[in-house]
Amino acid sequence: MTHKTALVTGASDGIGLEFCTILAARGYHLILVARRKDKLNALAKQLMSQHKTIRCTVISADLGKPQAAQKLFQTTLKKGLQVDFLINNAGLLHNGYFTALDLQAQEQMITVNMLALTALTHLFANDMASRGAGHILNVASLAAWTPIPNQNVYAATKAYVLSFTQALHNEMQAAGTGVIVSALCPGYTATKMMDNPDQGGKLMIPDTMMQSAESVAELGIDACLAGRAIVIPGFANRLTAWITRLFSKMMLAKIAGSFYRKNMQSSSTK
Ligand SMILES: NC(=O)c1ccc[n+]([C@@H]2O[C@H](COP(=O)([O-])OP(=O)(O)OC[C@H]3O[C@@H](n4cnc5c(N)ncnc54)[C@H](OP(=O)(O)O)[C@@H]3O)[C@@H](O)[C@H]2O)c1
Repeated sequence: MTHKTALVTGASDGIGLEFCTILAARGYHLILVARRKDKLNALAKQLMSQHKTIRCTVISADLGKPQAAQKLFQTTLKKGLQVDFLINNAGLLHNGYFTALDLQAQEQMITVNMLALTALTHLFANDMASRGAGHILNVASLAAWTPIPNQNVYAATKAYVLSFTQALHNEMQAAGTGVIVSALCPGYTATKMMDNPDQGGKLMIPDTMMQSAESVAELGIDACLAGRAIVIPGFANRLTAWITRLFSKMMLAKIAGSFYRKNMQSSSTK
């Protein structure tokens, strides 16, 4: 069996951990990236004991730090690792009233969700294009379709990821690079992100609206490997994305704002 190698950011938890579990079962060698090295080491150990033929490399990195993507890329080169599948999954969320939220926390969110993702895509897409093959999956969100009051910077970062990825998908394809770039747009997914006190107010979402991280990760991997530009997991989420086309952005902001103000267990919402 020839093994390909996948690099997953945000591998220590949630959807990222599921990407790793699925890819390991499919025989991929893995490069696991996040800040919490102990969690990455434990996952690497578990996956290598379950799948004897794969190799896991742990790289602890804070993608909110300047030049983090460049350092990560250099580390993979120094270790002689070739990345065939990049999954830009690491992301963070801050809920709350914009002016009440810490500015530095919002800047971190922009850096991780947009800047690091863009830099990693640039570095690895060039590398993949020089070999004529590769896959990049950028994790956006259903939030990309809607301006969301009380989650405004997060939603804007995801709108960026979606737009950037759609355009790059076409660009890479038209140039015949052999590199596929896809956007995964999950709706509410049962991870720590939905229940993290560090992120501000908690959004109270009924269980019926919540998808499993495993199913979201699997759909993302399959869609990217199949060469699709976008994947939205779940019929209800696809319908929601479609319905957003019927309204102006200001009307969407009004609807989302009223939903979030009603359902956000407040720490800093007004
Ligand atoms: N859950 C949802 O409802 C949902 C919906 C739509 C989109 N998404 C997107 O899906 C992706 C994964 O989210 P999730 O729900 O799985 O969240 P999660 O459970 O909170 O996991 C986030 C991951 O990102 C990593 N991370 C956070 N900040 C980082 C930093 N500065 N440097 C490196 N790694 C960092 C975390 O690892 P460390 O803490 O160890 O660094 C963790 O592994 C995100 O891009 C999110 O925006 C989630």
